Amino acid sequence: MRVLLTGGCGFIGANFVRHVLAQREDLELVNLDALTYAGNPANLADLADHPRYRFIKGDVADRVAAAEAVRGCQAVVHMAAESHVDRSIEGPAEFIRTNVVGTQVLLDAARDAGVSRFVLVSTDEVYGSLGPTGYFTETTPLAPSSPYSASKAAADLLALAYHHTFGFPAIVTRCSNNYGPYQFPEKLIPLFITNADANRPLPLYGDGRNVRDWIHVEDHVRGLLAVLDRGRPGEVYNIGGGNERTNLEITQTILAALGKPASLITFVADRLGHDRRYAIDATKTRGELGWRPTIDFKEGVAATVRWYLEHRTWWEEIKSGAYRDYYERMYGDRLRRAPADRT
Ligand code: NAD
Ligand code: DAU
Repeated sequence: MRVLLTGGCGFIGANFVRHVLAQREDLELVNLDALTYAGNPANLADLADHPRYRFIKGDVADRVAAAEAVRGCQAVVHMAAESHVDRSIEGPAEFIRTNVVGTQVLLDAARDAGVSRFVLVSTDEVYGSLGPTGYFTETTPLAPSSPYSASKAAADLLALAYHHTFGFPAIVTRCSNNYGPYQFPEKLIPLFITNADANRPLPLYGDGRNVRDWIHVEDHVRGLLAVLDRGRPGEVYNIGGGNERTNLEITQTILAALGKPASLITFVADRLGHDRRYAIDATKTRGELGWRPTIDFKEGVAATVRWYLEHRTWWEEIKSGAYRDYYERMYGDRLRRAPADRT
């Protein structure tokens, strides 16, 4: 089967391509990616000539590019997106264009092409924020809080509406926070590993007690393939690792793994509208699709720290480019204003 993957040069996409080409001889991949700041050809450079892989540089919101890319494909896994909450607070427009308009354009192209499955990679953030107890299930009402999660909720609901209205074979996945190799160093875990390695401050938002439910990217990729293979059109599947940790706990784990001092922790002004807690109930996906996460959190984080230490050139190149302006805009004032004695 030939599958159109969108956003394959990003973090989850690169891990998806690597997994499929190594383990799924029955699948060919066409990767449509616009190569935004988050799309890095270096992530897949060694696979560029693989016989079951083809790369197309293009924008999912471009009708012609989307139609050309999906031609000859029997299925779509759509994960191209603007993915960073902080950037969506700084400028929501690109999130609406790519995540909402791009999804609508791709849904139309895939409908015209008559694909037999369309997996929309949504996120647990569409559910909004939890209190100290409880879990997100697939029937939890959507209550997104950031421009990012609102744009993802729009895409998620559009896919389900195409199923309801046109009988289009869309399936939606909602996964919790991923970690692992190739994650862009704007996100918590790679940012803190690479900053700690350079003895730079770790800017922890608010009181550091916000909770995320972490899953290794490889387990997410296996979940997406289970949905592609066996998911039912029109259904939603939660994917989560069952590893709830406060951001402070994550920070301490990273510092311990690198042998760095707690004095690097710097509490800074909170993210606007910061969701307090996410936690996924993946009972449906486990029961119906026979999927379960396999990577132990402690071992997964240790392996991830090792990966970043062994791939310095990969992230040093990113952090020395346009990323520096972003970091100054996002963190410069907050770090300068951080009280010295809050650790
Ligand atoms: P990422 O930011 O690392 O990668 C996004 C990719 O999409 C990049 O390669 C980028 O070039 C590409 N892209 C962006 N705009 C595009 C456009 N207009 N046309 C074509 N390509 C475009 O993101 P990620 O962390 O790998 O996330 C992938 C998907 O998974 C996203 O849809 C995200 O919402 C979802 N998700 C992520 C997580 C997580 O923890 N990272 C968890 C749940 C769901
Ligand atoms: O839950 C799934 C989502 O997880 C995905 O849909 C998003 O694409 C992905 O980016 C991620 O969103 P988060 O906002 O949870 O991830 P991030 O790594 O940005 O932040 C994780 C937590 O760490 C969050 O509570 C904010 C906090 N944080 C983050 C950064 C970057 C800090 O305290 N300091 C920081 O510098």
